[in-house]
Amino acid sequence: MFGPNAARIFENNKRHIPGGVVSVNRATDPPVAFQRAKGAYMWDADGGRYIDYHAAFAAHFLGHNDPDVTRAVHEALDQDHSLFGAGTTELEGELAAMICRHVPAVESLQVLNTGSEATYQALRAARAITGRDHVIVMQGGYNGWHNDVACNLMTPLAALGPRQSPGEYKFHAISAGIPETHQHLVHAVNFNDLDSVEFVCKKYPVAALITEPVLQNIGIVPPRAEYLEGLRSLAGHYGFVLVFDEVKTGFRHALGGYSALQSVKPDFAVYGKAVANGYPIAILGGKREYMDYFVHPDAAKRVLLAGTYNAHPVPVAASLATIRKLLDGAVYRHVERLGARMEAGLRKIAPRVAVSRIGSAFCLYFMDHVPVDWHDLAANHDAESDNRLRRRLIESGVYVFPLAAKQWSISAAHTEADIDETLAAIERALA
Ligand SMILES: Cc1ncc(COP(=O)(O)O)c(C=O)c1O
Repeated sequence: MFGPNAARIFENNKRHIPGGVVSVNRATDPPVAFQRAKGAYMWDADGGRYIDYHAAFAAHFLGHNDPDVTRAVHEALDQDHSLFGAGTTELEGELAAMICRHVPAVESLQVLNTGSEATYQALRAARAITGRDHVIVMQGGYNGWHNDVACNLMTPLAALGPRQSPGEYKFHAISAGIPETHQHLVHAVNFNDLDSVEFVCKKYPVAALITEPVLQNIGIVPPRAEYLEGLRSLAGHYGFVLVFDEVKTGFRHALGGYSALQSVKPDFAVYGKAVANGYPIAILGGKREYMDYFVHPDAAKRVLLAGTYNAHPVPVAASLATIRKLLDGAVYRHVERLGARMEAGLRKIAPRVAVSRIGSAFCLYFMDHVPVDWHDLAANHDAESDNRLRRRLIESGVYVFPLAAKQWSISAAHTEADIDETLAAIERALA
């Protein structure tokens, strides 16, 4: 609910923050000002309570302010862990060992603060490793805000043009300020389309292909059988570095990452969000031989990886506590049960809507099938109905991000009662 308190907060914040909101992707319609969150619920500044499926863009996998994660953070500070900015710490070593033990794609790793930093470093390292400059990205994928990847997300089909297969799409920036010369180095292809990857590789010296293994910034667009394996073998054939952006899929679908579920090993993998249940941390890991470029003995080949806040003890402690809670599989079994309950309920109350779900993450598409790529989605999904549903749900106390085709995320803090309450709200909204 946008009440007098939210109005006052916006009014005040607009004086010092352009638009009144930090991070412009949080400037939503309807606008909102949240005050607190616990478990599966968030409260806005005017006292409205919501069951949360936004999960801060899927960062909260255990639920907001999980007590064990909060305790670990307090303990780290009580024990006078601090940001030292020199040398190493036992804590960062513990986290690295834990992740290397459980994530098959990660032989060694670096710790950064955000997914964007990690994808940036992965692509820069790929260029250093291959001596090539071109990269392939997915139309409909999101890998962060930097120059290589701030493009081709929800590009209107009128601008994008018809499907090109095999073929490529020109760079459609989602930010101003990206140099024209840089844009020529980036080639977008449709997800699930191996022929187009091959097309680009034959035309340009490609350093890297970066993709989410499931496109989760346009809902849940899963890979076709053999697609990820196909990318793996094209990487071998054409000599590019395969980067899986698991910032969203990562620990939400399995502790080993989605790549472990599919038994496909990328060269680099990037994790964020669910890794520390909402605390700012990202992991860049992969083949040891490639990770060693960050400490290459030849300075001309060494890739600079630096960051004042890298492996800050607060998010590191949060990440260790989060991973410990994922070890015995109970969280995954719980969210799978809830996800299945939600999916079954949706199929009953909305038989004409396509439901795409992987474990705790799902999306409703107002079309007769789950899309295979952005062209399919943009041409067939009734975004207006989706937006209307989202708005009505927010009005009735269910928070989903108010933008068509954005992912819904269930957390371990949700209960069957939450799912049933949500289904009842959806049924009322659809009616
Ligand atoms: C798949 C994916 N990669 C990268 C990023 C960028 O991460 P960050 O916002 O932490 O920079 C995001 C953010 O939503 C994402 O969903």
